[in-house]
Amino acid sequence: MSASPQNNNRVVSGMRPTGKLHLGHYHGVLKNWVDMQHDYDCFFFIADWHALTTHYETPQGIADSVEELLIDWLAAGVSPTAATLFVQSHVPQHAELHLLLSMMTPLSWLQRVPTYKDQQTKLTGRDLTTYGFLGYPLLQSADILIYKAGLVPVGEDQVVHVELTREVARRFNHFYGQEAGFEDACEQAISKMGKKNAKLYRSLRKAFQEQGDTEALDKARALLDNQQNISIADKERLFGYLEGISKVILPEPEAKLTKAAKMPGLDGQKMSKSYGNTIGLREPPDELARKIRTMPTDPARARRTDPGDPEKCPVWQLHTVYTDDKTHTWVIDGCKTAGIGCIDCKQPLIDAIQAELDPIRERAKRYENDRNYLQTIINQGSEAAQEVASTTMEDVVKAMQFSR
Ligand code: TRP
Ligand code: SF4
Repeated sequence: MSASPQNNNRVVSGMRPTGKLHLGHYHGVLKNWVDMQHDYDCFFFIADWHALTTHYETPQGIADSVEELLIDWLAAGVSPTAATLFVQSHVPQHAELHLLLSMMTPLSWLQRVPTYKDQQTKLTGRDLTTYGFLGYPLLQSADILIYKAGLVPVGEDQVVHVELTREVARRFNHFYGQEAGFEDACEQAISKMGKKNAKLYRSLRKAFQEQGDTEALDKARALLDNQQNISIADKERLFGYLEGISKVILPEPEAKLTKAAKMPGLDGQKMSKSYGNTIGLREPPDELARKIRTMPTDPARARRTDPGDPEKCPVWQLHTVYTDDKTHTWVIDGCKTAGIGCIDCKQPLIDAIQAELDPIRERAKRYENDRNYLQTIINQGSEAAQEVASTTMEDVVKAMQFSR
């Protein structure tokens, strides 16, 4: 059971600057960010230190990719006024928290994270037996905890990193959340909630602590969320008191799994840079048309007069993402009866992707020509992020009994 996030509305997510984005990123991540940015307090950042864990030999590539990544975000509709956009290395508090967390994180927790061994075998030609690479998920934990985020939108492969973050937060709170006179402070805070609510809180807490009633725990948290006459510090105490642990300094975040919008690539496999089957977010129109026209089709259709089967064709996969039902019927009928040729079949697809990318390319052009504006966004966003991050660090060092 988790300590409830006090900033349930706070969202943190990052992306590594390792090259231009493609339609897989757009459909899998960015559209989701654009949807969330107005409903949540979003912190989106460029994880340049994370890129360094694997690309430490070629830092120039990372530096070049930072602005390019920002352009891709903005072109896709991520807004610097709706969300806080910044660069990880511009907020050194991430590194400070990472260092402190590293002192209390068991080595085995990091060694058992599946991405650790996976990536080492996948990314051949790179020496990833480094201290920094082992710490990759812990740096990610620091990224999240430094903003006391409630939600972390990530793909499936990253859920284990959010799980680790929760465990690290729990351990931190357990070690450093002890406060002299904690129980007295809690009892006093409870009495400030008013008689009825105080009684309700006590009975819900008891139900959870004595019977493990998790529904009661959820109810008690909701009750606390709605309290207006107690301070934030008291609220945090009472969240911790519910579970018998002490004060929650670093709340546990939750992963918000982005619906597996598995974007098919040019060859029918999942779109991915490592498969070389991508369409770039800023793919020039003629290049896009060329890529679609040269896509492989059902091999049974060697000649125009040979009938085919869309199920065996990567072009059809893209139709399922981009075209409407009417077009789908046209493709299926036309393919199976050899009524249409593959060139015909590909045209509506080219049109649909062009229509999607037109406004994106248009916006990107504006930002490509205004590097000053990009720097302003990064500076302002990083400053705003620092402000939140430094407040968390104050809580953290105080809890660890370091003085500033
Ligand atoms: N590891 C993430 C990825 O590869 C990027 C990342 C770094 C991240 N820090 C984060 C994502 C914090 C969410 C929250 O995609
Ligand atoms: Fe693929 Fe369309 Fe050609 Fe059929 S007609 S093989 S679905 S490209």
